[in-house]
Amino acid sequence: MVYVEESPPLRDGYVPAGWPGMRGKRVVVTGGSRGLGEGIVRLLLAEGARVATCAREGAGLAALGASMTGEERARLFTDELDVTDPGRLEDFVTASAKRFGGVGDTQRPGDTEGAEEARGPDGLDGVVACVGGSRGGTFEQADSADWSVTWELNVGHTARLVRAALPHLRAAGGGSIVLISSISGWKPGPPAQYGAAKSALIHLAASLARELGPDRIRVNAVSPGSMLIPGRRWDRMRHEDPRAYDAFAGAELPTGAPVSPHEVARTVVFLLSDWATGVSGAHLPVDRAQNAPSPYGY
Ligand SMILES: NC(=O)c1ccc[n+]([C@@H]2O[C@H](COP(=O)([O-])OP(=O)(O)OC[C@H]3O[C@@H](n4cnc5c(N)ncnc54)[C@H](OP(=O)(O)O)[C@@H]3O)[C@@H](O)[C@H]2O)c1
Repeated sequence: MVYVEESPPLRDGYVPAGWPGMRGKRVVVTGGSRGLGEGIVRLLLAEGARVATCAREGAGLAALGASMTGEERARLFTDELDVTDPGRLEDFVTASAKRFGGVGDTQRPGDTEGAEEARGPDGLDGVVACVGGSRGGTFEQADSADWSVTWELNVGHTARLVRAALPHLRAAGGGSIVLISSISGWKPGPPAQYGAAKSALIHLAASLARELGPDRIRVNAVSPGSMLIPGRRWDRMRHEDPRAYDAFAGAELPTGAPVSPHEVARTVVFLLSDWATGVSGAHLPVDRAQNAPSPYGY
């Protein structure tokens, strides 16, 4: 990771360095088989990164791999797991780092000459906590088990992911962590158990950024607005009830359309990149000025 200690002076004719890209970066993304996570994984691979991702359903991961070019597939590592299962997420992070050239395991059986150097120094360069969601319906419907599952899915898995990744980020000399919050994490709207968990992620990012700054590890939170994802809520509404969708878009979305997962993915990849070395502890809404969750939900 390039860490610029002092900003170069701005002057007439100063041209900033070109986009550094993500070539060679090693990034773990949870929940990459569809939706926003898939968008992030695809963009990272297109930018030359090596990517590890997980999901519960093997079929989704297999479909993701099958849609890649051979060269991209070679840089993608997938594992089938539930991030709330104790130990499984931690094992996945360790396996990913090993696969990429993890701590204490730079030389591996079958290596040809120069393979070790080609992999670069040990460790991980980026982590994206993308799995999230809500359980239990409305506040009155949700019982304490629903609150616990929602918390674990969003905040618990993120904390365990970051803790497991720390030795590998430190081994790389620093890195970038992005926590996926939501428009519901900074503006009120039901379901409360979801908003409460997502708002905790914004706090966690700011807090960890201070704690991990000395290790050159940056931590930021990104809050997507209602995303238009094929086959998911807003896309289904658009097709099944166009009048309701038009009412939603007209009333809630200043640009007339929801933010796309690709737009959010680009922001996440920027934060993972060396162009964002000055950004840590920040919270970035990416919502096309939607500003708050709609009465229809998030
Ligand atoms: N969709 C929106 O409009 C919206 C708006 C604001 C914020 N967000 C946030 O953005 C993130 C992504 O949302 P999305 O709608 O793209 O997600 P999604 O479609 O619900 O799921 C995305 C991925 O997560 C995996 N996943 C779900 N639960 C998992 C678990 N317990 N363990 C492992 N993998 C799991 C899914 O695969 P499997 O099902 O195979 O496990 C899939 O690959 C979430 O944190 C969400 O809260 C979404």
